[in-house]
Order: sequence, then C-alpha cells, then structure tokens
Amino acid sequence: MSEFVKVCAVSEIPDPGKMTTEVDETMVVLFHLEGQFYCLDDVCTHDGGPLGEGELDGAQIACPRHGARFCVRSGEALTMPATQATVSHEVKVDDGQLYVKIKLT
Ligand code: FES
Repeated sequence: MSEFVKVCAVSEIPDPGKMTTEVDETMVVLFHLEGQFYCLDDVCTHDGGPLGEGELDGAQIACPRHGARFCVRSGEALTMPATQATVSHEVKVDDGQLYVKIKLT
C-alpha cells in the first residue's frame, strides 16, 4: 500500500500551472488550479502520450500527440481519441508542502 510522499513546495507550481515529476517510480503531472492541487499519471490512455507536455486549458489538459483532452480534476477522458480515464492520484497540502499518494492499479 502506498503512502503520501512529499513532492515539492506548493509555491513551486504557479496557479494555473503544472509540473511533471516522478513519485514512487511513477511519472505524474501535478496541477495547480484555482488554489487546488491535482495529480494525474503522465500517460495518455490513447497511446501513451506524455500528458505533462500538453497544453493546460482551464481544467483540461490536451495530449500533445493527438489532442485528446482529460479532466485535470478527475482524469476522465473528455474527447476522442482517448476513451478511458487516466489515473488520478490523491494529493494533500501540509505546511506549504505538496504530498502525493500513488494509486496502485
Ligand atoms: S497518445 Fe494521447 S491522444 Fe493519442
């Protein structure tokens, strides 16, 4: 079972903004949006595209490969060609630090 892992200071990610990093050997994208933080796998479910290199548009991230859009908050696939959600990980803030708990799948 995974535990929360300290990733960075909350001040390191602008609002709105994103940061790609590795947590517990999993590549993830952290998002800062309207004062909240979210964390998704850095993997598009269409064909493995690097979501962290995509464009952040409000609460959506667009895959840089073929343009599928995902909800930053839930990981839900919103547009073709992706049809399956990417993994969303639990995030918490404590004393100005951001922590992520990797969801094991
Ligand atoms: S790999 Fe992301 S849309 Fe195709």
